[in-house]
Amino acid sequence: MNSKHIETEAIRTQIERSQYLEHSSPLFLTSSYVFEDAEDMRASFADEKQRNIYSRYSNPNTSEFVEKVCKMEGAERGYAFASGMSAVFSTFAALLNSDDHVISSRSIFGSTQTLFNNILPKWNISTSYFKIDELDTIESLIQPNTKVIYAESPTNPAVDILDLQRLGDIAKKHNLIFIIDNCFATPYLQQPIKFGADLVIHSATKLMDGQGRVLGGVTVGSGDLIQKIYLFSRNTGPALSPFNAWVLSKSLETLPVRVDRHCDNALKVATFLEANDHVNFVKYPFLKSHPQYELAKKQMKLGGNVVAFEIKGGIEAGRKFLNAIKLLSLSANLGDTRTIVTHPASTTHAKIPEDVRLETGITSGLIRVSVGLEHPEDIINDLKQALEN
Ligand SMILES: Cc1ncc(COP(=O)(O)O)c(C=O)c1O
Repeated sequence: MNSKHIETEAIRTQIERSQYLEHSSPLFLTSSYVFEDAEDMRASFADEKQRNIYSRYSNPNTSEFVEKVCKMEGAERGYAFASGMSAVFSTFAALLNSDDHVISSRSIFGSTQTLFNNILPKWNISTSYFKIDELDTIESLIQPNTKVIYAESPTNPAVDILDLQRLGDIAKKHNLIFIIDNCFATPYLQQPIKFGADLVIHSATKLMDGQGRVLGGVTVGSGDLIQKIYLFSRNTGPALSPFNAWVLSKSLETLPVRVDRHCDNALKVATFLEANDHVNFVKYPFLKSHPQYELAKKQMKLGGNVVAFEIKGGIEAGRKFLNAIKLLSLSANLGDTRTIVTHPASTTHAKIPEDVRLETGITSGLIRVSVGLEHPEDIINDLKQALEN
């Protein structure tokens, strides 16, 4: 049964029951599948039958997880990967040829930048970047060999918003593949396919798992493009493990209720920070003071779980703030039940030259809070005492 409600699809999309009539999908921890006879095996390898052959190609648990994400994103087809980065890498490796060109937002996840700057150039694939407030420069970056426009929104860690409809229109006009990394928003808050995205990538490690347990990734979108990604991946082996797929599919059942509460807590945290004397500014998409507030309201259901703010006093104040945190976690992940605090300028982005760092909104005192599901009073009290000490 298909429902127009994402909450129902996330729960009721389920693989066929076994002879035991289990209510909740079991775990298929098997690397391969058996054939009835020689003819069944021949027809299966000739792709005349849709069936499981080997878990690098497909597995009931990964199929259930992928089908749920497809329904939630409004996509035709997908493939699940061992991590978000294996989804990003395999998607580009499957679709691009040597000498191709990519146009990307400058504000993207660090490892994706490393892929564009250091790894794809091995095949002479080059990337041109646009700043998030200069979308009108994109068309001037297009070359005869340009294949893809790539972006993330909201951005990490500065929580800026990009106009997805505008990007989609440019991609369509120039016949480019439009790819969005949607892991900050999740399909519950934002469905990029509605704005013209051909492919949507997720690090399922973030809010999809939501409990900081497993790595995973997924790419969903148009059937033709996914077929290329599937053939590449079936032969090169970046597949998601059945166990992680089982965990992630269960997690999706509660994604809408979890994300609702994450956003509720994040708005409370952002409102508290905005009124605090130790803070220069706060960036949260659903705060009226956010520079792209109207755009965020247009393309997102709620503001997400990440709040960025600038502490007064720069690098040193940021380091002192991290040291004063008592309850919350200092960790590299985000989208966990546990609130996580990071100070990019002294940690994840410390090796980047200051002028480049500032171009993507990462000021010296910028703190990123991935707001979790603890009681908001406890989250706010810990931030308050750390700001005051
Ligand atoms: C926006 C974004 N994309 C991709 C990734 C990579 O995901 P993974 O760590 O699952 O490989 C991350 C990880 O932090 C991320 O924040």
